[in-house]
Amino acid sequence: MTIRANMLVDKHFTVSAVDPRVYGSFIEHLGRAVYGGIYDPGHPTADASGFRQDALEAIRALQVPIIRYPGGNFVSGYNWEDGVGPKSERPRSLELAWWTTETNQIGTNEFADWAKLAGTEVMMAVNLGTRGIDAARNLVEYCNHPSGSRWSDLRIAHGYREPHRFKTWCLGNEMDGPWQIGAKTAVEYGRLANETAKAMRWVDPTIELVACGSSSRGMPTFADWEATVLDLTYDQVDYLSLHAYYNNNEGDTANFLARSLDLDQFIQSVAAICDYVQAKKRSKKKIMLSLDEWNVWNSIGSSRADERWQIAPPEFEDVYTHEDALAVGCFLITILKNADRVKMACIAQLINTIAPIMTETGGPLWLQSTYYPLLHASNYGRGTVLLANVDSPKYDAKDYTDVPYLESVCVFDEATEQLTIFAVNRHLEETMTLDVDVRSFGSLRLIEHLVLANDDLKAVNTKETPNRVVPASGGQTAVDQGRISTRLSRASWNVIRLQVTK
Ligand code: AHR
Repeated sequence: MTIRANMLVDKHFTVSAVDPRVYGSFIEHLGRAVYGGIYDPGHPTADASGFRQDALEAIRALQVPIIRYPGGNFVSGYNWEDGVGPKSERPRSLELAWWTTETNQIGTNEFADWAKLAGTEVMMAVNLGTRGIDAARNLVEYCNHPSGSRWSDLRIAHGYREPHRFKTWCLGNEMDGPWQIGAKTAVEYGRLANETAKAMRWVDPTIELVACGSSSRGMPTFADWEATVLDLTYDQVDYLSLHAYYNNNEGDTANFLARSLDLDQFIQSVAAICDYVQAKKRSKKKIMLSLDEWNVWNSIGSSRADERWQIAPPEFEDVYTHEDALAVGCFLITILKNADRVKMACIAQLINTIAPIMTETGGPLWLQSTYYPLLHASNYGRGTVLLANVDSPKYDAKDYTDVPYLESVCVFDEATEQLTIFAVNRHLEETMTLDVDVRSFGSLRLIEHLVLANDDLKAVNTKETPNRVVPASGGQTAVDQGRISTRLSRASWNVIRLQVTK
């Protein structure tokens, strides 16, 4: 049996341009993300700075436009001064977010060097847990001021004549969470964030600032937190952050694949709160959203390392299944559907820690199932998101009703005149026949139909079997006079790439 769905898009009806930064990511000093992930001086592919070239290659292929650094919870106890200057003089610190020892062998300047090699921008976070205005404004001065002041001259003395010119800065991390070092109430945080933002901007007026939203939609203070923080920071910030993690630990795949509906509601609720504060303030300014942590996280809530004060112990090294890749695909589609509001999004994280890319310290690298939807979306999902009229059969799951079996979005790239349809068939048993009316584009030619499908929803890639969940070209799609007819395998991620020919 097959199920049938229809979609209509018109090139004149758009949602918004895609901000490329929605394909961002996150690297925290947590687990083996930095040490053993991007930095592994003993590795056969390491360059003179200790950066693994195999990791850089896998990351470059993803075309990640921005990477958040250095945390996460880590940043709330971080003294950035410990991570600059001669490596031999850097202290070892007790790291209280994850109960490890931080060697400080990688810090701001090394990460800036690495980011250049990876072809990405840095989204820098400042510590508003144990520190505040002074450390934050000094860090902006160190990173972005050209010369002639205490902190900019120190950077030059450290071998960096040119400023890093980091543009995007996060005002702390998850400051509402009781687990956070220096957690705060919304009023405490809002006041501190506002005053810190002012000072940071006085050092460098070109920066953009992200205020912390709630750590998750499930926090008891959710919504009030956003309203209060924005009330206190509105004129000083540009973005409000959202964090969202999901998993299928309850073993209900139909429900799990519907979690992107939760993400959608979360985004829309936060946008509504931003607009409420805008209305209250009679402001012309619209606050945009930075979904700067999102992913499937199976080991969420598991405790920190069993033994305290280890150096870069493996942590949260989730192994992702085929169904996790489908969920990531649904989340990416949801982010794109909200492209008018979500301007930055960072999959958390990039390497080894809840990550699409895995390495063995000193050993091989392999790609998890979740790498592929990211790769496709980032490579082919640039341009403008089109409004889509979708007619799909639906199902009810444990926590959601009316879940469409088809999750889909169309992106048109004006520069290359390519139209891309991203589609997940959520049905776990049935193939879907999908007809898409794209007549407003005139003539189209199929470039390729990429498919990520698997007989086993729980199939995973490992060091030993790195190719169990990989996409293939050759999905069944026909194009005839502006009408696309395609078949989407059960439980599959699909990328249908088309070229406008006239
Ligand atoms: O990404 C892992 C952790 O999840 C981050 O440090 C924190 O911000 C969030 O709770």
